[in-house]
Amino acid sequence: MSLTTLSITQPDDWHLHLRDGEALKTTVAHSARVFARAIVMPNLKPPVTTVAQALSYRQRIVSCIPKGSTFDPLMTLYLTEQLNSQEVQRAHEADCVQGIKFYPAGATTNSESGVAELECVYPALEKMAEVGLPLLIHGEVTDTEIDIFDRERVFIETILEPLTQKFPKLKIVLEHITTKDAVDFVSRQGKNIAATITPHHLLLNRNDLLAGGVRPHFYCLPILKRNIHQRALIEAATSGNSKFFLGTDSAPHSIETKETSCGCAGIYSAHAALELYTEVFEAEGALDKLEGFASFFGADFYNLPRNQTQITLSKTPFTVPKEYSFGSGSVIPMRANESISWSAYEATK
Ligand code: NCD
Ligand code: ZN
Repeated sequence: MSLTTLSITQPDDWHLHLRDGEALKTTVAHSARVFARAIVMPNLKPPVTTVAQALSYRQRIVSCIPKGSTFDPLMTLYLTEQLNSQEVQRAHEADCVQGIKFYPAGATTNSESGVAELECVYPALEKMAEVGLPLLIHGEVTDTEIDIFDRERVFIETILEPLTQKFPKLKIVLEHITTKDAVDFVSRQGKNIAATITPHHLLLNRNDLLAGGVRPHFYCLPILKRNIHQRALIEAATSGNSKFFLGTDSAPHSIETKETSCGCAGIYSAHAALELYTEVFEAEGALDKLEGFASFFGADFYNLPRNQTQITLSKTPFTVPKEYSFGSGSVIPMRANESISWSAYEATK
């Protein structure tokens, strides 16, 4: 008999873009509906590069948390070549800063201020390794010579592998992994190296993006890969291996910036992320592995307590709206106008 309801410890989202301003009203409410905490990405314009900026961004987020929710946004700093070890020390001492995000310059949305020469940030990385502050990595090279489908693998070989050898104690999260190469690399490493996996990289592959027409709302970075990679990600996520945990990379953009001749990268999934992951685990016959992936392994990696509250999932389908308001415009969510087979709600205490 197949399961029709399931209660798990409340999950956290270990990689999330909330944006800023009016958009926060939509994004924060969606994440806070199900997730207890989220690691909030710092790629605003301009980026969040200091502890003071992170605290003020956190206040803007907190002011949009719906009444009754105890959602706790965990902040990150954006690694620039100017980040010094004193600021790393301050980040370590600030309770609500949990990581530093490394974007190779030019790799993705709002990454112009990212790092071009990794040597410039060695003092900051040394300090991070010393105090145990994780480095969160967008793992793609930016060389125009390298094929977009190979950028994660080449990053692992040419940048990440040497980095882990130079800083063997540094805690690293390879974010939103998309390839079998990344699964294999992370699996081989010590317990200081982990990875997040998104719902869209589990549910979609590059055929969904490109076959039978281009679907701009499935364009994200790292780009969707071929199905053998999707398969490797599904196996890693549902394996019970604590190196792999939930990070949605929910990354909203307004319709006009997606449906245009040069569209932005990012898929919005915060409205239904847990339900989408649940579909994947159900299809694999691995619902018993969902709680570890969604609610335990990330907290354990970040040395934070596991949540005490519960979330109930019931096999009740619901139809996703065709769009949500997003600042002065709207955003097309994942599964827009289509059905999701699970619904999540807070368990009654
Ligand atoms: C993200 C965004 O829009 O901020 N886009 C994406 O496709 N994932 C940036 C990122 O995480 O790469
Ligand atoms: Zn992201």
